Amino acid sequence: MIQPILHYPDSRLRTVAKEVKAVDNGIKTLVKDMFETMYAEDGIGLAATQIDQHLQVVVIDVPDSQDDYRLLLKNRQSDEDKKTNRQRHPLCFINPKITTTDGHEKHVEGCLSVPGFQAEVERSNQITVEALNEQGEMFTLHASNLLAVCIQHELDHLKGILFVDHLSKLKQQRLLEKTKKAIKG
Ligand code: NI
Repeated sequence: MIQPILHYPDSRLRTVAKEVKAVDNGIKTLVKDMFETMYAEDGIGLAATQIDQHLQVVVIDVPDSQDDYRLLLKNRQSDEDKKTNRQRHPLCFINPKITTTDGHEKHVEGCLSVPGFQAEVERSNQITVEALNEQGEMFTLHASNLLAVCIQHELDHLKGILFVDHLSKLKQQRLLEKTKKAIKG
């Protein structure tokens, strides 16, 4: 079932997610709901935190190329001509931990919890992540570029951190003012 997404500056987005004790049917339903919600919103990643479920669960589906990603960001902002026919590469991370990081990369990020806003953030360019999949099996993944960026963005959500927290105080202040105005209408 598609779930409502919390929007910045909702304080529930600041909750630190708890470890999943067992990958049971409840978790499997959560994972299914998260994929449905992410695809419905044309996102490339979603953390359980964003649908007000404070467990360490993340789903990701990163486009094949940076060009596809740019198109996706553009379409999300204009909300027209959504490309839904892209190849799917679903990944699920339960209790994920980043074990190695290397290099730096600046990337334009967006977030379903901060609609209509994008900004460049610097992150590690290559990472190793360990997690359980939706079958409860442990796996290790080496990721680089956009996938590495996306994993770091989603794991931040589980700690109550948003990508906008990485921006300068001035940029954060401007975003907050813009968001407050939008809420007031
Ligand atoms: Ni996000």
